[in-house]
Amino acid sequence: MGHIRRVTLALLSVAALVTASACAGAAPKPTNVEVFTWWTTGGEKAGLDSLVSRFDADCAGQTFQNGTVAGGAGSDAKQVLQARLQQADPPDTFQAHAGAELFDYIDAAQVEDLSADYDQWGLRKAFPQGLIDALTVGGRIYSVPANIHRANVVWSNRTVLAGAGITDDPKDLSEFLDDLARLRANGIRTPLAAGKDWTQLMLFESVLITDLGAEKFTGLWTGDTDWTGANVRTAIDDYRLLLGYTNVDRDRLDWSDAEKLIIDGKAGYQLMGDWAAADLSAEGFGHFTFPGNGRTFQWLADSFVLPTGAKNPGGTRCWLRTVGSADGQKAFNTRKGSIPARTDAAPADYPAYQRAAMAEWKSARQVPSCAHGSACSQGWQEVANSAIVAFSTNQDPEALQRALAAAAQRFAK
Ligand code: GAL
Repeated sequence: MGHIRRVTLALLSVAALVTASACAGAAPKPTNVEVFTWWTTGGEKAGLDSLVSRFDADCAGQTFQNGTVAGGAGSDAKQVLQARLQQADPPDTFQAHAGAELFDYIDAAQVEDLSADYDQWGLRKAFPQGLIDALTVGGRIYSVPANIHRANVVWSNRTVLAGAGITDDPKDLSEFLDDLARLRANGIRTPLAAGKDWTQLMLFESVLITDLGAEKFTGLWTGDTDWTGANVRTAIDDYRLLLGYTNVDRDRLDWSDAEKLIIDGKAGYQLMGDWAAADLSAEGFGHFTFPGNGRTFQWLADSFVLPTGAKNPGGTRCWLRTVGSADGQKAFNTRKGSIPARTDAAPADYPAYQRAAMAEWKSARQVPSCAHGSACSQGWQEVANSAIVAFSTNQDPEALQRALAAAAQRFAK
């Protein structure tokens, strides 16, 4: 073998080795997008499934991987998520509420800046400024909102109400209490259906809005309203009266179990966010804003993030783009009961409940929710939930007020 031939062969085998080792070293690009939510049944699942159909159409080559953990308001999902984030094993994307809850993830550097994607996808003008503010820290935007939900809605079973001679919606809290008493006098054991911790916190927040008004209620979460005030005590006393009309097994039920009491005609009313609209906007059911809340829209928004260290950021970006798109929002929100976060949606594309909510969202006074993260951080929410759970058993108004005042001292910024 001549010298040149030997050198050429040697070079070729080195090249082959380099190529082979490069191939062996390059892990195949992931094509799964693990989407972490707590949407497993009813309208929550229907909304997610519909969004996934859009994702499949928009994101060829990517596969949706369902990372749901059941439990309303993320009661179990959030703990699983925290553990995974601690172990640097994030899903490709997860749902986070706009506002204080999202800011927790941003402060902990657990989510990526999406500002450049917003520019590229033309999203800056797509959402209302107030919502953009609830997604932004230090001028950077960290998540894409899928929707806007309303928390302060009372749902009813008209047949149950008619059985007790109730034909009109109560105009204020005292009329509501009268109607609850009337239902009970007519043999309805659970005039007001309630579920566990966070559902009770929602009910209490609604009473706070009634007794304090929108501005002072909002101030509770900013440090401007004193939790030790007499008006908060009045709200606790009113809340306690309402609790007396709820099911005794409330602490063991998720929101959907409590909703079933309404569907099955065992309860008259339930205070619940409008994810219940998927089941309760049918014939035979009614809804109204919590009595005394006036024209207040207590809002929350589900948004999706790109976690730091996500395995498939390309696929996740495609998911996020679908979430923020006009078609994605329509697919999702027509099923979920929420309204689109985008301002360019056509009301005519939506069911009657959402059409009315879209009009309300524009004109009503907006206040945030602690039970769903727009008003308070996760730590604050956990303490508030524990205090409300303790109250469900001990019914001690002073202890509840003390615990909530201490939480505000600790968490209000
Ligand atoms: C909320 C969430 C809603 C709905 C609800 C009940 O926190 O924002 O989309 O899923 O929980 O699970």
